[in-house]
Amino acid sequence: MAFERACALAEIPADEALAVTVGAYAVAIARDGEELFAVEDQCSHAAVALSEGEVEDCTVECWLHGSRFDLRTGKPIGLPATEPVATFPIELRGPEDQRDVYVDTESTLNGVTPA
Ligand code: FES
Repeated sequence: MAFERACALAEIPADEALAVTVGAYAVAIARDGEELFAVEDQCSHAAVALSEGEVEDCTVECWLHGSRFDLRTGKPIGLPATEPVATFPIELRGPEDQRDVYVDTESTLNGVTPA
């Protein structure tokens, strides 16, 4: 496990993902209420940043053709994307009033190798 700091918790908007670079990868950090998720920041259909899409109901939408990806599993919910995107382990660290988000891009939660 190699967790690296991705951002401050306070930087993550409620309805959008935050684009960060962790290790060798572009990662989209998103939240659903109190739950946090880190997914590969590239649609599995074409080279579009998922962080530019809307976050809603624990999914992130690819703005180009509208596939939504489940933030928990990385799986697309609708066409045209058919392949999942990688999901990464995520952790909160630091004092209560100044939480930082850490992501490990050396392993994935869903077994998908990031592009
Ligand atoms: S590029 Fe994302 S659905 Fe087509």
